[in-house]
Amino acid sequence: MQVIHSTDDLRNSLNKARAGGLMVGFVPTMGNLHEGHISLVEAARKECDVVVASIFVNPLQFGINEDLDTYPRTLEEDKALLISNGCDILFAPSVREMYPDGKGIATIVDMPELSQLHCGISRPQFFKGVATVVVKLLCMVLPDIAYFGEKDRQQLTIVRQVINDLSIPVQITGVPTKRAASGLALSSRNSYLSADELSIAASLYQLLKDVGQQLQAGCQDYDRLEAEAVQRLAMLGFKPDYFHICQHQSLLPVQPGDVEITILAAASLNGTRLIDNIAFNLS
Ligand code: PAJ
Repeated sequence: MQVIHSTDDLRNSLNKARAGGLMVGFVPTMGNLHEGHISLVEAARKECDVVVASIFVNPLQFGINEDLDTYPRTLEEDKALLISNGCDILFAPSVREMYPDGKGIATIVDMPELSQLHCGISRPQFFKGVATVVVKLLCMVLPDIAYFGEKDRQQLTIVRQVINDLSIPVQITGVPTKRAASGLALSSRNSYLSADELSIAASLYQLLKDVGQQLQAGCQDYDRLEAEAVQRLAMLGFKPDYFHICQHQSLLPVQPGDVEITILAAASLNGTRLIDNIAFNLS
């Protein structure tokens, strides 16, 4: 695996691959890789000739009181995992490489309608930071296909919309959420949780499934279901952020008669923020 830190080296390497007619797959990450990330690498490996992963803990998407400084950075372990899973190129730029002034760039990509809902309510800068860095990384790598996890459903929906709106010629592929045996969605932030907290954390997915079953049984009292779910999260020991029943495509609030549904939830456990979602069809 080639490990590349500069944009020029990345372009040189990928220009050669593209000139040879090779198809490039790209997996953007913030590192501290786990099986969830690796499932994206595997999907890219199956479909593409050259697999590029990036590791960049993007300061633009962290709020002032969030965990930018303590976010787990495990580059050596990450490299070994990428090598053993067939990644060809790791792009690991410094903050200065991405943002020469060390802070950010003057241009911001945003999709205000959706970036201010759900996670955007408590993290108003988050999706601007994500959309901006994703567009920048895509312009650097110019992949044929980029892979994103369904675990971060709102991020995936925003990335799809931004790519479509700006006519960026890349296919976006969503990859199903990898879970622990308990049902807990794998996440780099799970490493902040104690053994007890990990078992409580698994009930977030259980709750999503329970509410999904009530919807499938015909319940359309969305407000009550959401309010009860928030109460149950609090009783389980979470600090609930939100629990929203949405239309799958737009992630706007569900309307009676909608068939494709996604439920999005976020809650903190002892300061660690967890998100999860499930999607299903009511027909
Ligand atoms: P990060 O949290 O490192 O996640 C990188 C990619 O892995 C994202 O597409 C995410 O949805 C996916 N992923 C994480 N956990 C997963 C799981 N359990 N199952 C399947 N996929 C999973 O998301 C980001 O980084 C950043 O916001 C980024 C897109 C890199 C922009 O900075």
